[in-house]
Amino acid sequence: MSEQDSSACALQRPISYQQVLDADMGPIPADMRESHPLGAGEMHIDRHVYTSVDFHQREMDKMWSKVWQMACREEQIPEVGDLLVYELGNYSFIIVRTEDRSIKAFFNSCRHRGRKLCSEDTNIREIRCPSHGFSWSLDGELLHVPAKWDFEHMDKASRRLLEVKVAIWAGFVFINMDPASEPLEVYLEVLPTELEGNRYQSKYIAAHSQHILPANWKTVMESFMEGLHAAETHGHAWAHLSDILQYDIRPGARHVSRSFHAVGLPVGEDKPALSEQQIIDQFHRNVANGRAVGPAPRLVEGTTARRYMADVMRLQHKLKTGIDCDDPSDAEAIDVLQYSLFPNLIMFRGISLPPVLRFRPNKNDHNSCIFDLFYLVDVPKGGMRPAPAATIHMGPDDTYEAAGVLPDWLGYIYDQDMDNIKNMREGLKAVNDDPLVLSAYHESRIRHLHATLMSYLER
Ligand code: FES
Ligand SMILES: [Fe+2]
Repeated sequence: MSEQDSSACALQRPISYQQVLDADMGPIPADMRESHPLGAGEMHIDRHVYTSVDFHQREMDKMWSKVWQMACREEQIPEVGDLLVYELGNYSFIIVRTEDRSIKAFFNSCRHRGRKLCSEDTNIREIRCPSHGFSWSLDGELLHVPAKWDFEHMDKASRRLLEVKVAIWAGFVFINMDPASEPLEVYLEVLPTELEGNRYQSKYIAAHSQHILPANWKTVMESFMEGLHAAETHGHAWAHLSDILQYDIRPGARHVSRSFHAVGLPVGEDKPALSEQQIIDQFHRNVANGRAVGPAPRLVEGTTARRYMADVMRLQHKLKTGIDCDDPSDAEAIDVLQYSLFPNLIMFRGISLPPVLRFRPNKNDHNSCIFDLFYLVDVPKGGMRPAPAATIHMGPDDTYEAAGVLPDWLGYIYDQDMDNIKNMREGLKAVNDDPLVLSAYHESRIRHLHATLMSYLER
């Protein structure tokens, strides 16, 4: 075990996540047996990082323009000429599948007088500006200039579309506006290694929602980065979620943090403890939903709810995908194993949670966020790759329960989170100068997010 600060370790729950793994069925990946608590550091956040226009502009200028960010999935632009518009605050990009089937990204701005080139996803042969008709190849080379005699002074070669860097990992297309940025594979730190078992390149978008929320993008992202709220916010709906978590930030990590949240244990400090049988009953009402596996069985003496749930999830996974993979450990079958990639991506390891979450400012409004949820599912073994699902557009008052992008029980849980989020904006503005205080361990990933953000802003 690596210890950055023994005082932080002392703050962990009496039962640690590692003790839960001790009793689990393996094989448990070696990296999951490590724990890397974040040491002491800044425990307070100024409200203005959420509420100030100036702070938002600094993020735009010094952070968003320097980081790798996931713009889309490769499968969203499979054919030559497929084009996707990706927006980020004031910035707008077009992501294009070129003639040689590689992917390029350009600023979505005409190099004549700056008109936005494309407003929606499409398939095209050339990129043509609707204003005066300048056009470019899919590679960004200037092809056509109207009234050529009038542009004799213009160097055609220097009027290519302005390109941004593109790199691909596991089917995710990342872009970076900074020509001097580190390579994506360096930026991703341990993410590709620890999520290798997810085989994202073999998944497709089975559902995709895009939710406009009345909150700063960090407020929405942070609501997923700690388990402290689980008992109060989700206590009754998700009773088989324990209060045993591990939060990790590896020494030197800037972009990646993770947390492991144990499921299916009859313990709870801030909520009534459940019997093993009560956990199974709720699991059947929620995850298994009674349909695929029938009514909840009576647990036989000596069997645990956690093992039973993991067995059901492993079996369901095999039946659904037809994929013969090594049996995932209990933890990888049922726990909430969550990773975040700075600045705005959240992914889950294992087989129980397929969503990939992305958060970004909505236009140039620091009070509004676009929350994308991609539900990524294995392409059936031996089957064709299904086309990506159409995007479900959600407004602030739409619910996940009604949207159908998540299983019913999980949609209900997300709606509980959204209720908190909608009340954060007003609450944050209700007082001027009262710094927010974070917990040492549960909220360590949020502390790390802000430390990394400040390191970009202070460059
Ligand atoms: S602004 Fe695009 S062609 Fe003139
Ligand atoms: Fe939550």
